[in-house]
Amino acid sequence: MNPVFSLPALISSRFEAVVGVDPELRAATKPQFGHYQTNVAMRLAKQAGKPPREVAQEIVEKVDLAGITEPLEIAGPGFINIRVLTSVLAKVATDVLNDPNTGIEKVEHPQRVIVEYSSPNVAKQMHVGHLRSTIIGDCFTRVLTAIGEDVKRENHIGDWGRQFGMLVEQILDEGIDASKLSLAEAEALYKRANAHFKEDEQFAELSRERVVKLQHGDELTRRIWRQLIDVSKAGFNETYRRMGVLLDDGDVVGESFYNDDLPVIAEDLESRGLAKMDDGALVMFLPGFEAPAIIRNSAGGYGYFITDLATIRHRVQSGAQRIIYVVGSEQIFHFNQLFAAARLAGYLPDDVVAEHVPYGMVLGPDGKKFSTREGTAVTLNSLLDEAEEHAAPSIALAAIKYADLSNALQKDYAFDAERMSKTTGDTGPYLQYAHARVSGILRKADAEGFDRDAVTVAAEPEEQDLAIKLSRFGEVVDQVAETLQPHRLCTYLFELAQSLSVFYERCPVLKSEGEVRRSRLAMCQAVKQVLARGLDLLGIEAPERM
Ligand code: ARG
Repeated sequence: MNPVFSLPALISSRFEAVVGVDPELRAATKPQFGHYQTNVAMRLAKQAGKPPREVAQEIVEKVDLAGITEPLEIAGPGFINIRVLTSVLAKVATDVLNDPNTGIEKVEHPQRVIVEYSSPNVAKQMHVGHLRSTIIGDCFTRVLTAIGEDVKRENHIGDWGRQFGMLVEQILDEGIDASKLSLAEAEALYKRANAHFKEDEQFAELSRERVVKLQHGDELTRRIWRQLIDVSKAGFNETYRRMGVLLDDGDVVGESFYNDDLPVIAEDLESRGLAKMDDGALVMFLPGFEAPAIIRNSAGGYGYFITDLATIRHRVQSGAQRIIYVVGSEQIFHFNQLFAAARLAGYLPDDVVAEHVPYGMVLGPDGKKFSTREGTAVTLNSLLDEAEEHAAPSIALAAIKYADLSNALQKDYAFDAERMSKTTGDTGPYLQYAHARVSGILRKADAEGFDRDAVTVAAEPEEQDLAIKLSRFGEVVDQVAETLQPHRLCTYLFELAQSLSVFYERCPVLKSEGEVRRSRLAMCQAVKQVLARGLDLLGIEAPERM
């Protein structure tokens, strides 16, 4: 038999061959019901107007599961109970154990997927919203890469706009060397520039002129603008390293990258009648959207919307088949309108998927809006600092990332560093601890020189439960890749870790003997590998010791 990583998929396909519909297998609720259950007979009986048990009988006689399950059983009003052969369960666990990709199957036809995430703004520190984008986007790139997609990360930093006029003007005014600024200093400068702009009309006028100079490529202005980008990127990179995420300089494609395309797009839309002049501005009216999209404002300037149109067009031209935007829920309207405009203009053909993955806010521990005592937005670094008051850096990071990924993304969540860092309950540190504990057991056995290359015994329900769970890993990863819901993987790993601790309680490992001992060690090894791989897909380290 070929490796059977996904037992439910295999069994479902055998049912489908007979009944023509998905049997919608469910995990059995009690060991005496076997491993899986289906109510497909009851569903079909209703349509056919026949007694459910009779339909179940017909199905049971026809479905070919020889060599995979025990004879199928009919229970109660017409459920079909499925008990997998012990030998198959052992084989499934062994297959996962020996598979270099831990049971994750690669897609047959890899797609080019662009995952846009993090996207902070120049001369501003990353705030909690960027924390979420960075963690979620990183998880997506890991999962999509694992299933074999051709993934490109893009960090769409905000490196263009009118604010650079006053930033550059303030730098010249103070006579400072922008290349020596830290990101925090650049942000402080931004605040001074803002205040200056508001209270000094002459400065404001110079700033506006500076914007024009920047746009026209004035050398000094461009040099200072570059310096601001460089010091900001250095600050972002420091945070990325601290967070253990995959992003680096090679992933940065900022807004300014698209500058030359903007007039081309405006002209294209206008000449095809897709955009028209309205009160001096060039706008696009889109069916279903009350407010028009601004293509060019009445002062002749280009903004956020057209920059995103240029971005999407460029991504499609570079071969993207799926484009994922990890940006907060406050931009849902923007992306809906953007995708509608891009489809209408033909920049986003029907066979290219564009998805905005919105996420909720990070709230304070009290469930209210998160801000510092001074009432300013909380920076990402200060959050990391706070979590590290409760745990070592790698554990603090696991706590944050897991808290971020383990709920439906659209939900707001409260940042409670103490609760998130606990090694009990549904937390990242609990999963790390489960991994460290199983590693410890394997280390002890290693010291005694035991091999562990195959699970051969799966007589106990706890062993069977682990094998069944192992067989689902690949499928869960697939689901996350498709639905972009990382909480499914979190729930899976949490349940696996719980099953592992029940297994320890009922099935002695180091204290057992002979084949049983070898087999249980192999089971431990397989679970360890899946835990480690699963945590890695969440961007969380799996420590050997804790
Ligand atoms: N820089 C923006 C912000 O901080 C996010 C950019 C989102 N991406 C996009 N393609 N519009 O809010």
